[in-house]
Amino acid sequence: MERPRVVVYAEASVDGCLTVAPDALLLFGNDRWPCPGDASEALAQIRTIHSPQAMLEGSGSFVLPGAASGPPPPVEGDRSRLYEDHLLNDIARRPGFLGWFVVVDGGGRVRWYYTGEPGREAPGSEGWHLLVLTSRSTPPEYLAYLRKEHVPYLVAGSGRVDLEGALRKLRALLGVECVLCTSPGKLGGALLRAGLVHEINVLWLPIVVGATKTPSLFESSDLEPDEWPTKLSLVSCKTFSGGYTWLRYHVDGAVAEGESA
Ligand SMILES: NC(=O)c1ccc[n+]([C@@H]2O[C@H](COP(=O)([O-])OP(=O)(O)OC[C@H]3O[C@@H](n4cnc5c(N)ncnc54)[C@H](OP(=O)(O)O)[C@@H]3O)[C@@H](O)[C@H]2O)c1
Repeated sequence: MERPRVVVYAEASVDGCLTVAPDALLLFGNDRWPCPGDASEALAQIRTIHSPQAMLEGSGSFVLPGAASGPPPPVEGDRSRLYEDHLLNDIARRPGFLGWFVVVDGGGRVRWYYTGEPGREAPGSEGWHLLVLTSRSTPPEYLAYLRKEHVPYLVAGSGRVDLEGALRKLRALLGVECVLCTSPGKLGGALLRAGLVHEINVLWLPIVVGATKTPSLFESSDLEPDEWPTKLSLVSCKTFSGGYTWLRYHVDGAVAEGESA
């Protein structure tokens, strides 16, 4: 099974923060975090360049660390089938379907209103349907909840979601050739450490947060003595009014499967 190309997009302060404080989700914006304005053109251009069939987001964009959602209703009957991939083949054939809004949520923490179902489309994201990445450790109640809400999901890994396995399933089962990851913090860090990232785009905002606990770019474990920083090659640099700078990098050595270096 081949896996898709993974392109990461981040909006970061000059010191690498992804938001203004540990408890400040940007889902609905934040007055202290400057809106890119004209510079949001960067993300539009990245979408045009790569035509991703899937957007990839972490659960941290929707719920704070440690925040508990109320448990879904208990499951009755046979639970074993819940751990089979749940794909709803009619979704991709619907008129106006653009792609999958894929969210890693192995802990089953996020409750969904905007699923992409008719009448439940996120404003501005019409045509993108939710798909959740889970693992064999995800509570069965959550998988039953996703089925009830008509949300497709893939099961990859036995502990945390196996990101490489999930990407391979996205390619093999849904034909996804390019994934645009817009969660460049812990999810971006896990993808990078696993050698799964092909391209990194950072839109640098003209602010400094100056923090130690605020989510930041590519958070991961510290490097072991025999581990090296990931080397990048600059592809392009573009500045926008207001002091925004978009840097586009290729990850050295990253080759999409099926391509030659
Ligand atoms: N400025 C920006 O561009 C930008 C973009 C997006 C979000 N944000 C902000 O950034 C903050 C969230 O960032 P964050 O770093 O805390 O969250 P995050 O990037 O969403 O990272 C957590 C996600 O990564 C997954 N993950 C982490 N390590 C993993 C591993 N080793 N294997 C498999 N999955 C792994 C987690 O899976 P499980 O759920 O299964 O544990 C979870 O889905 C929020 O404030 C949000 O508003 C900023």
